[in-house]
Amino acid sequence: MTHASYPALRLRRTRAAAWTRALHAENRLHPSDLIWPLFVTEGQGEEEPISSLPGVSRWSVDGIVARAREARDAGIPCLALFPNTQADRRSDDGEEALNPDNLMCRAIRAIKDAVPDIGILTDVALDPYTAHGQDGLLDEQGYVINDATIDVLIGQSLNQAAAGADIIAPSDMMDGRVGAIREALEEEGHANVQIMAYAAKYASAFYGPFRDAVGSSGLLKGDKKSYQMDPANSEEALREVALDLAEGADSVMVKPGLPYLDIIARVKDRFEVPVFAYQVSGEYAMIEAAVAAGVGNRDALVLETLLAFKRAGCSGVLTYHALHAARLLGA
Ligand code: PBG
Repeated sequence: MTHASYPALRLRRTRAAAWTRALHAENRLHPSDLIWPLFVTEGQGEEEPISSLPGVSRWSVDGIVARAREARDAGIPCLALFPNTQADRRSDDGEEALNPDNLMCRAIRAIKDAVPDIGILTDVALDPYTAHGQDGLLDEQGYVINDATIDVLIGQSLNQAAAGADIIAPSDMMDGRVGAIREALEEEGHANVQIMAYAAKYASAFYGPFRDAVGSSGLLKGDKKSYQMDPANSEEALREVALDLAEGADSVMVKPGLPYLDIIARVKDRFEVPVFAYQVSGEYAMIEAAVAAGVGNRDALVLETLLAFKRAGCSGVLTYHALHAARLLGA
């Protein structure tokens, strides 16, 4: 009997049923991989939906505490907080960032009181506090001044740490800020407060809905290209990561997420440190728009994109879909 040559190896064998697919899965997504970004606003009992971010609202501090309980119950280990600072508290120098009773600090303390076992990550950058919407202090030409900005970022970091923040996450992209913040944290008795550096943060078109959420989009003139990275570059991302690690970062972040999976994979391969991705507001909005347009199933799209970050090498992901995903995955 003669026969054609058949495949010597059949990779479909291990895919033939759910049990064997589960057995051979190389990566797994778990609620403990997720960090949930939340937007805080003034008042009591306030919920302000963000139209460019359907399904996401700003909550007053009491609502933020309720979200923290939901997150803990769903197995999410950490929240990321962002304030929508009142217009009359924004200024050219962003000094509200240093106020120990600012919205962020009140939210941190309220969560730590009510849900002490959840981690809190705080963003360090001045854009929610400046009248011009840039992340730092400007000179007469509108250029963001590096070293003078760092002096304010140190104060902002210490203010957040004193309120109870567990992870300080500088998102400003000033040169040298991680080392300066680390030194200040040590000196002020915050040795166990971590730094997750937004190490490779790109000047991206995907941040629009976030800027609506923190109220900076209408204020921002120009762009952030003199400090955030050029999307053309990847060698430079490795240099950014190397510097932030040398300055004392405990973990590094790549942002945005999906368009930069190549950067995540290169960083993980090169440095073998904890890497996180921020699936940013525009990515969230893009998925929601795709769902609304009938392109695909929300649950499947969300879980597939989040799993991609794990496959690329991430320890975890900041995502606005965190609660939904954690509930789908089960704690
Ligand atoms: C502030 C900051 C931004 C984001 C996180 N921190 C916006 C920006 O740099 O303009 C974006 C997050 C998102 O789009 O979800 N520096």
